[in-house]
Amino acid sequence: MLKSPPPTCPAPGVLPQLPDATLRALTPADFVAWKQLRDEVLAGLAHPDMYVREADEADFFAQNSLPRGEGIGVFLGEELVAYAMLGMPTVGEYGHLGAVVGMPAGLQASVAHMASCMVRVPWRGNQLQALLLRLRCAVAQAYDRPLCLAVVSLHNAPSRHNLLAHGMWIEWTGVIDGLRRQVLQIDLLGRARWDLHDTRLIAGDDFEQLCAAAAGGYVGVGEVVDGTQRLLRYARRLPDAVAASHGAQPL
Ligand SMILES: CC(C)(COP(=O)(O)OP(=O)(O)OC[C@H]1O[C@@H](n2cnc3c(N)ncnc32)[C@H](O)[C@@H]1OP(=O)(O)O)[C@@H](O)C(=O)NCCC(=O)NCCS
Repeated sequence: MLKSPPPTCPAPGVLPQLPDATLRALTPADFVAWKQLRDEVLAGLAHPDMYVREADEADFFAQNSLPRGEGIGVFLGEELVAYAMLGMPTVGEYGHLGAVVGMPAGLQASVAHMASCMVRVPWRGNQLQALLLRLRCAVAQAYDRPLCLAVVSLHNAPSRHNLLAHGMWIEWTGVIDGLRRQVLQIDLLGRARWDLHDTRLIAGDDFEQLCAAAAGGYVGVGEVVDGTQRLLRYARRLPDAVAASHGAQPL
């Protein structure tokens, strides 16, 4: 366990919108501030299903920060204004998202969880989720975990928008712990393939159609704005190199 906070990284050049911000790994000493941020954000959600608090927050923090994972905090002075976490799940452990989406067992050790990201309301609109996605991908790659998976609620269009904009695709739609959820994925080695000549549009809240599309071999690869409605574009998945090299079914 770390005895003192790790060095901070000045953000200038990384985040010109917030030139005074610093970024550093979260340590156990940050737990209280992290929990306060979450209490504030969760109390202000537009819909309660957008993010349902984990049952044991202390355990969740420990699972997804050093030394078992990596939590990243964005600070302005002493104030934690945003955080994101990356988990390194063990194959076979409860909640492994690779297992949830039916990933071949041989690939599951390459999975990292984009476990959680929150931004305090006054600091939204500064592309912090996008920055924290990029940083977590870099960390995942360093840990040799190029398959990054994230869970999102069907009510959380802003987060899903940001994840899709980052290059993630919707791998799966279904029920996790009683909640309707989508799992988005990215392969940092760029091995995923789909056929953009074979696509369909599905409403972002049409749970049954979204489940059926994934079960039928389609993945959600983008958003289409149709008046006031946001539709999801699904494309047919093609076999990819990583699955073939493991002699497994395509991801
Ligand atoms: C999700 C969250 C982290 C994003 O924070 P952020 O980095 O400030 O992101 P922004 O608010 O700047 O990004 C919003 C993006 O979503 C878009 N957006 C806003 N409302 C939207 C909607 N209803 N549908 C789709 N996209 C939407 C915005 O246009 C913007 O996209 P752009 O950058 O392409 O213009 C923040 O809203 C948050 O903390 N939410 C509560 C906790 C949460 O839901 N965490 C994620 C769990 S998966």
